[in-house]
Amino acid sequence: MYQSVLVTGASSGIGEATAIHLAHKGFRVFAAARSLDKLMTLSGLGGGRITPLAMDVTDEASIAAGLAEISDGGGALYGLVNNAGVSVMGPVEEVPAADWRRQYETNVFGLVNVTRAVLPQMRAAGRGRIINIGSVAGRIAAPFQGAYASSKHAVEGLSDSLRREMGPHGVKVSLIRPGFINTPFGAQEQDELERYTGGAYAEQINIFKAWHAKGHPNAVGPIVIAEAVHHALTAKHPHSRYTAPAKFLGLLAMRNLLPSAIVDRVLERVIGLAGVGKKPTIK
Ligand SMILES: NC(=O)c1ccc[n+]([C@@H]2O[C@H](COP(=O)([O-])OP(=O)(O)OC[C@H]3O[C@@H](n4cnc5c(N)ncnc54)[C@H](OP(=O)(O)O)[C@@H]3O)[C@@H](O)[C@H]2O)c1
Repeated sequence: MYQSVLVTGASSGIGEATAIHLAHKGFRVFAAARSLDKLMTLSGLGGGRITPLAMDVTDEASIAAGLAEISDGGGALYGLVNNAGVSVMGPVEEVPAADWRRQYETNVFGLVNVTRAVLPQMRAAGRGRIINIGSVAGRIAAPFQGAYASSKHAVEGLSDSLRREMGPHGVKVSLIRPGFINTPFGAQEQDELERYTGGAYAEQINIFKAWHAKGHPNAVGPIVIAEAVHHALTAKHPHSRYTAPAKFLGLLAMRNLLPSAIVDRVLERVIGLAGVGKKPTIK
C-alpha cells in the first residue's frame, strides 16, 4: 500500500514539482490548491497516483472538506507538505494593513490551520511527517521583504516548537528553506514591487526590483526542493532543516557568524543599494 501525502499549493512551482516527484517515487499524493481547474493537468501524471483536491488553507471549512475527501478515499495521511504561500513585497511603511494580513493569513495561519487539522490522526497513528516550506528569507531578510520575511521567520519558530512537541508522538517535523527557485513566484513578487516604484522609496525599490528580476529567472528549478521533501519524508532520521540550493548555505553562515552591521553592508553591496538614499552630511 502506498503512503499518502498531502501537498498544499500544488497548482504551480515547488508544490507541483513536489507532487509529481513524490508520486513517481511511489507515494499516493493529494495535490491541493484553491482552484481544481489549475490542478487537473496533474491527475494523469505520476503513475496515476496524484489526486487533485480543492483546498484553501485560509479557510478551515475548506480544509475539513479536503481532509474528509482524503479519508473517504481510504487511508490516513502519512505526510503533510505545507507549501502554499504568497509573497507580499514593499516598504514596511507603505504596504497596506490588508496586505500584511493577507501575507500572514496564508503563510502562517494557513500553515497552522492545515497542521492542526492533520495532527490528531498522525498522533493517533503514532507516526507521520510534517514538512514546512520556509525560505532563506526566514533567516536573512532583505529590505522590502518585511512582510514576507517575517512570515517565514514565524514558520522557523513554529517548526522548532512543533518538532519538539511531536517527537514523543512519533511525528517528525522538518523545515525546508528554498533560496531563489525559478517558479511563477518571482513574477508575482515583481508585480508586488511595481506598486511601490513611484512612492517615497522609489529609488531604492527600483534598484531592488532590478536585482530581484535577475535572481528568479536564472535560478534552479523546483526539483531541488522536491528532492529535499522526499528525503524529509523517507529518511529514518530526517534533518530538522534543509537549505536548497546549497549555495545559499554560505549566505546563512555569513548571517550567523558576522555582526549585523557587516551583513547589512554586504547585502547593500550585493543588491546595489550601497550609498543610495543617504542624506549628505551637513557641516
Ligand atoms: N520560488 C522561490 O524562489 C521560493 C523561495 C523561497 C521560498 N519559497 C516558498 O515556496 C512555496 C511555494 O512557492 P512557489 O515558488 O512554488 O510559488 P508559486 O508557483 O506561486 O506557488 C504557490 C502555490 O501556493 C498556492 N496558494 C496560494 N495561496 C493559497 C491558499 N490560500 N490556499 C491554498 N493554496 C494557496 C497557489 O495555488 P492557487 O493560487 O492555485 O491556490 C500555488 O499553488 C511558498 O511557500 C514560498 O514562500 C519559494
